[in-house]
Amino acid sequence: MIFEQIATGGCQSYLVGCSETSAAALIDPEISQIDHYIALAARDGLRIRYLIDTHTHADHFSATRQLARQLGVPVVMHQASSAPFVDMRIGDGEMIIVGKLRLRAIHTPGHTHDSMCLRVEDRLFTGDTLLIGATGRTDLPSGDPEALYDSLFHRILRLDPDLKVFPAHDYKGRQSSTIGQEIATNPRLQTRERAAFVEMMRNLNLSMPTHVTEALRTNMSGGKSVAQLLAEAAACVPFMSLEVLKSHIEATQDDLIVLDVRERDAYESGHIPGARVLPRGQLELRGQPGAS
Ligand SMILES: [Fe+2]
Repeated sequence: MIFEQIATGGCQSYLVGCSETSAAALIDPEISQIDHYIALAARDGLRIRYLIDTHTHADHFSATRQLARQLGVPVVMHQASSAPFVDMRIGDGEMIIVGKLRLRAIHTPGHTHDSMCLRVEDRLFTGDTLLIGATGRTDLPSGDPEALYDSLFHRILRLDPDLKVFPAHDYKGRQSSTIGQEIATNPRLQTRERAAFVEMMRNLNLSMPTHVTEALRTNMSGGKSVAQLLAEAAACVPFMSLEVLKSHIEATQDDLIVLDVRERDAYESGHIPGARVLPRGQLELRGQPGAS
């Protein structure tokens, strides 16, 4: 097996390739690393055949949709995923065949209802179901602590203790663990009684991930993030700083229109010296009173 682990902040992605056939699958790719994944696959002589999200991510932007367009390969998620751009929806026990490798899906709802773990040879890609020293949270949309309890204690923790655990997140720079290590040392797994576990998960009081609404919107719809939209706009629309705008206003005679499309709070507090800035929907041509 050819194996690459790519960290993006706390997010972990995995490139898993068959050394005999050069076929590969990319698990949980992140949008800012697209060129990196393609370069790694090229360096290792791999052809990416599948793009897999272990679940609907709420804390970062998935690259599956964009890579699928770019490479012409299918996006794979669990069948509970509602994302319309998913090409292959797999169920519990089904396999993704990647050359001579077999990636077996284990449906593990709890962190999200569409969460799945993927087992291949001696490795288990646990998504956000089981993290190193933690578990996925259950307070985001479709999260369910009761389901997470079943997924962990009745499924994942009953697997081979030597199975290596590769999660979708780690914020401390750790790369992997094993099922046995997690059973022995993971603080959340020491609460083994169902009601106590559920109570613990319901009272974690974690702060919301940054960009959670935008991440869910883009990852569930296949739409573009604000950063992508701005990057695309910047490629074809000249941007100017407020200083440059000010100098244009001072140097020109009523031939410049400024239309403020920011949210209300922003345009009420914002100020462009020398220009009359109009809120969204109230375009007025300077020098042409009454025009709107
Ligand atoms: Fe997640």
